[in-house]
Amino acid sequence: MDSLQFDRLLSARMKRRSLIIGAGALAGLAIASQKPSRVIATPRFTDYPFSLGVASGDPLPTSVVLWTRLAPDPLNGGGMIPNPVPIQWQVATDATMRQVVQRGTAMATPELAHSVRVVVEGLQPDRWYWYQFQVGKEISPIGRTRTAPALGDRFARLRFAFASCQDWQNGYYTAYKHLAEEELDLVLHLGDYIYEYGPEAGKPRQHNGPEIVSLEDYRNRHALYKTDPNLQAAHANFPWIVTWDDHEVDNNYADAIPEDDQSQQAFLSRRANAYRAYYEHMPLRPTAFPKGPDLQLYRRFAFGDLLEFNVLDTRQYRTDQPCGDELKPRCPEAFATQATLTGLKQEQWLYRNLTRSRSRWNVLAQQVMLAQFDFDPRPTSELFNMDQWDGYVAARQRLFQFLQNRQPSNPVVLTGDIHSSWVHDLKADFNNPNSATLGTEFVGTSITSDFPQAFIAPVTAALPANPHTKFFDGAFRGYVRCEVTPQQWQTDFRVVSTILALEATVSTLASFVVQDGQLGAQRI
Ligand SMILES: [Fe+2]
Repeated sequence: MDSLQFDRLLSARMKRRSLIIGAGALAGLAIASQKPSRVIATPRFTDYPFSLGVASGDPLPTSVVLWTRLAPDPLNGGGMIPNPVPIQWQVATDATMRQVVQRGTAMATPELAHSVRVVVEGLQPDRWYWYQFQVGKEISPIGRTRTAPALGDRFARLRFAFASCQDWQNGYYTAYKHLAEEELDLVLHLGDYIYEYGPEAGKPRQHNGPEIVSLEDYRNRHALYKTDPNLQAAHANFPWIVTWDDHEVDNNYADAIPEDDQSQQAFLSRRANAYRAYYEHMPLRPTAFPKGPDLQLYRRFAFGDLLEFNVLDTRQYRTDQPCGDELKPRCPEAFATQATLTGLKQEQWLYRNLTRSRSRWNVLAQQVMLAQFDFDPRPTSELFNMDQWDGYVAARQRLFQFLQNRQPSNPVVLTGDIHSSWVHDLKADFNNPNSATLGTEFVGTSITSDFPQAFIAPVTAALPANPHTKFFDGAFRGYVRCEVTPQQWQTDFRVVSTILALEATVSTLASFVVQDGQLGAQRI
């Protein structure tokens, strides 16, 4: 297949979809204006209220966030009475919840869809805790979480996995079943936690309702995804650090610009619904509470002196994809100096973090591929993905200039979005293989989302024209496991045998290491 056919395939896949926005877009926001109502201490539930499991996240040395949501009828608005309901929670140092070290009561309110977040403070650094919720006579599953080591402390090893892109309709979460059984300290999610689309016939699983727009739509969609037992197990076993990509709102949106023909006002109210439902369903800190269509998700986590994550948001503040988006040769717009994926404020925040960092490994946890990749194997022509950093050349150049000037210790970039596995050396000049290597990028495949079989051959054919790309696989779904010590970073691409059945085996498709002080990845 030549590259033009490949281009057409991708264009067809990304083609703009028409969408009619109904009055439902604003309906959900009316809930927020309700007056506080009577607290119901022991409500009667029509069904088990902890249907969405439990979760924890945003670990700090002495604090972690616990999450659950009361939803006896999860796919139909939750099925809760329109009253605040108190929930008891407790934290223990053992898996059987005998050694309780903290307990308290939190309020589940209808304004936040009876979701609950508890910010537990005063914990010991670098240790496991177990937690559980109770409402009336109903008790939740027990979750396990872990605090980060104390800031600056010597920390010998961090084990984590990163995942992204879990289109419900494309298959089963066999990858999460295996991820939940790994020995990890935390999980990082790089976006596309939900997909916004309506149901598609012939798929292994079906979405609950048409393309989502209203707050109620987004809540029901998050609830659908969270009913999955394998996803619940992965949340229950580890703290998660989450960031989003486009499908939490709308395919390939950029700031206030939607994929489809939708007014900016209508899209911003849709974005507000999406962000609010995201906040309600994720173990985020209350500092992330959305203000209308704005939610600050970019944030930093340090693990002793070993590693820090700069968790980025490359959707909310980005300028529009240049040259009309999609896969094509670059037009002048792709080189615009004002173009940005992060927005200026987040960019400066990132540089500040990297300048101040004393960590051995400095991670950018983000969404779209940072490395250049020319999808056209012919030397005289080019094809770049305008939704990736390849469409924002000046922004990437600023970041690379910064890395070259300041030389933060061991930059590693973790990426999702593209539903396939890649390893890149990040080159000062991608067109010159002899130029300096400034860092390493690991791109994780999807949990379930599709990478069309027809794309594999043309990407493979383009690999020789991109010598900084050390690895590519498009055939397998899974997650990426990382083990980081002061001396070495190891990445294992963990892949499952199938997503079309409830059971699958897991194996390591490829492993790469980066040695401390030697930028660039080596296959082992
Ligand atoms: Fe995706």
